[in-house]
Order: sequence, then structure tokens, then C-alpha cells
Amino acid sequence: MTVAVDTLILGAGAAGLFCGARTAARGQRTLVIDHARKPAEKVRISGGGRCNFTNLDTNPSAFLSNNPHFAKSALARYTPWDFCTLMAHHNLSWHEKTLGQLFCDQKSGAVIKMLLDELDQAGGGLRLETTINTVARAANAFHVSTSGGDIRAEHLIVATGGLSIPKMGATSLAYDIARQFGHAVVDPRPALVPLIFTDDHQSAFASLSGIAASVQAKAETGPGFAENMLFTHRGLSGPAILQASSYWRAGEPVSIDLLPGQNAAAWLTDLKSAQPRLTLSAALSTQFASRLASFLAAAFAPAPDAPLGSVSNRQLEAAAKALGDWQLRPAGTEGWRTAEVTAGGVDTDGLSSRTMESKIMPGLYFIGECIDVTGWLGGYNFQWAWASAAAAGEVA
Ligand code: FDA
Repeated sequence: MTVAVDTLILGAGAAGLFCGARTAARGQRTLVIDHARKPAEKVRISGGGRCNFTNLDTNPSAFLSNNPHFAKSALARYTPWDFCTLMAHHNLSWHEKTLGQLFCDQKSGAVIKMLLDELDQAGGGLRLETTINTVARAANAFHVSTSGGDIRAEHLIVATGGLSIPKMGATSLAYDIARQFGHAVVDPRPALVPLIFTDDHQSAFASLSGIAASVQAKAETGPGFAENMLFTHRGLSGPAILQASSYWRAGEPVSIDLLPGQNAAAWLTDLKSAQPRLTLSAALSTQFASRLASFLAAAFAPAPDAPLGSVSNRQLEAAAKALGDWQLRPAGTEGWRTAEVTAGGVDTDGLSSRTMESKIMPGLYFIGECIDVTGWLGGYNFQWAWASAAAAGEVA
């Protein structure tokens, strides 16, 4: 038997559930389906279980896309405060942790419950553990064959996310459907992901594993991110590196400023005058964990244990320059296994920036992470999920 609905949404993640509540609230017979056992699992694990659900500094420049203008309309029409208003309506509260990042006080399970309640109260349906076999278009409707039977829908909204964390059920379905209907897909790549090294740095970083430093990290293209960096067994992680990773391309270096906002040359030459018997390692250990200080002194100075008084100003300036612009060439990233998001995706050229509807196939929509719009770390990706879902939810 074929079930007929007005709006069928593939994917019960952040974008799919939120969109379903809005189409159902407009009176559309809405069904959301997902192959997972539980809905919105990425919301559950997000923000360390506290769901960093938006960012107060949301603006289009915090998103990567081949078309930097595409996200503007949706982001302007559904803002972080709109989502906060919805949270407040459900008696949920939040706090700002840092850099505009809002976390839910009641933990991520409460955000999922809110999304499910919204869908349910609006009359939308939800089917989990449903495998999607085929999607076809015939007689002015979409026909989706699933493990739970066939579904006929006037509007089809694809919200099955990107490729990050396959263990959690990520698949390429959105890209497959996009290609099937003639859409281009910008090569998906892991983003917000640790960087790994295979050269001498790997063993050096392994010996520093667990140490954090406040740095500014920058890929060749893209802005610098002043946040923490963490040494790992295989390379570098921490928010500054995750942010830079989204802009990083294979073969390119990343630049690390180990003393952001400081004039390292002036600091070292002043220190040389004030404490000429201090070694560079000892000087650096006032700024970094001692193991890291020794490593940097050995890497950047010809005689790290010589007293500063015996080191020429030129050598100190060279060390300062290296500290401010440490050039590292990653061998790769930790890949889909740990990437928080997927950069690239359904090419925005084929979509309406107002409604997320396909320009090729009327009635077909893409929302959330599957589109070539990728936010910075810090709540931006959920804000994109809400905003793109709201845009489609007005019309689909
Ligand atoms: P999402 O991935 O949420 O949902 C897609 C749904 O489609 C899933 O339920 C999946 O099961 C289903 N699906 C996939 N393939 C299917 C198929 N073939 N058939 C049927 N169903 C299928 N962002 C942020 O802003 N703040 C944060 O704190 C975090 N934290 C965070 C932590 C970790 C560990 C990760 C991995 C990610 C984050 N993110 C984040 C990113 C954020 O989770 C992500 O951008 C959104 O969940 C994207 O929402 P979507 O609804 O587009 O996809």
C-alpha cells in the first residue's frame, strides 16, 4: 500500500525534524523518515552533550561555501534569537560559554525532545528504522520506496546530512539524490577535523601529546583562529586547529602563531637585558608547558640552553619569527571517522537561496549539512540547520 503525504522529509536529524514541525504547522501532511534507531543522534552528542545550538555572532562570513552569498537570505530570516525564543517557549534555558556559543542548560536530550514535541504537536509523523531504497519522480509526485512500504509525496525534502562519522549512520544519500536529479555536488571533504603528520613532527607531537597552548592557527586561505591547540598522538587538534582544518587543502601548510597578540622579538630582547642568565627554554616555560617550551627552544634556537645574554639579537629575532609563524605541513586529516562536519556538498548554484528548492526539479529541496554551506566551530552548523530548514519549511 502506498502512503500519500504532502511533504516527505528524508532524515530525522536537526534540520529534518525542525523542518517537519514547520511544514506540519502549515497544515501540510508531513512525514519524516530515517534509517536510524533514534532521531537526531548528532544533536545528542553535540557540544559534549550540552548542544551548542547556535552562535550569537552568526553572520555569513562564518560559513564556507563556493558561493559565500548563498546562506545570507536564510540566515537573515531565521536568527539565533528565533531559536532562543523557541527554546524559552519550551522552558529551556541556555548560557554563553565563549565567543557567542550558546549551550543548553538542560543538555542535548532536552533539545531533541523539543524538536520531537514540535513535530508531534504540529501533527507531523516520524518513522525510524526505515531504509530508503529508491527515489523516483512520476506523475507530478515523488515516489519513495522504503523498507516500510512506498510513499508518495508532492514535496521531497532531503535532510540526510553529510558523510561525517559513518558509525553514526552518515551516508551519501543526499548527494546521490542530488546527482540523480542533475545537481552538481562540490567534492565533500572532512572539516572541523584534527590534522595528522607522518614526518618527524609525528613522533615529536606524540611526545607532547595532551599539552594545550593558546595559539592562532591559519590555513593558507581563510582567517586565523585564536583559540586552544592540542597536541595528539598523531598530530594536532583543539578548536584553533579544527577551525583551520575546514580551510586546509592537501599539500598546503598551516601557520601557527604560538604567541598571538604578543611582540615576541621585543619580549625576548627585553628579557635578555633584564635576565641575561636565563635560557631560552626557561624563558619559553613562562609561556608554555615545560615539555613544549624545551621542544620549541630546541626547534627554533641553535643553542636552546645557552644563556640569553650569549645569544645575538639576530638569533633571538629569528626565534621570535619562528614562534610567530610556525609553518607545518600536515600529511592529512583524521578523516570522516572524527570530522565534526562535511565541507562541500550539494552545489548551491542549483538551489534557491530563499527556499532551498531545486532549480532543476520543482518540489525537491535540500536542507542542512548536505548543502555546500559549512559553519565554523561553535554552534554555526546548527544555526544553518535551523535557518535552511525554516526557509524550506515556509513553502514545502
Ligand atoms: P544530521 O546528520 O544531524 O541528520 C541526518 C539524518 O539523516 C540522521 O538522523 C541520519 O540517520 C539520517 N540519514 C543519513 N543517511 C540516511 C539514509 N541513507 N537513509 C535514511 N536516513 C539517513 N554543530 C553545532 O552547531 N554545534 C555543536 O555543538 C556541534 N557538535 C557536534 C559534535 C559532533 C561529535 C559532531 C559529529 C557534529 C557536531 N556538530 C555541531 C555538527 C552538527 O551536528 C551537524 O552540522 C548537524 O547535525 C547537521 O544537521 P542535519 O540535520 O543536516 O544532519
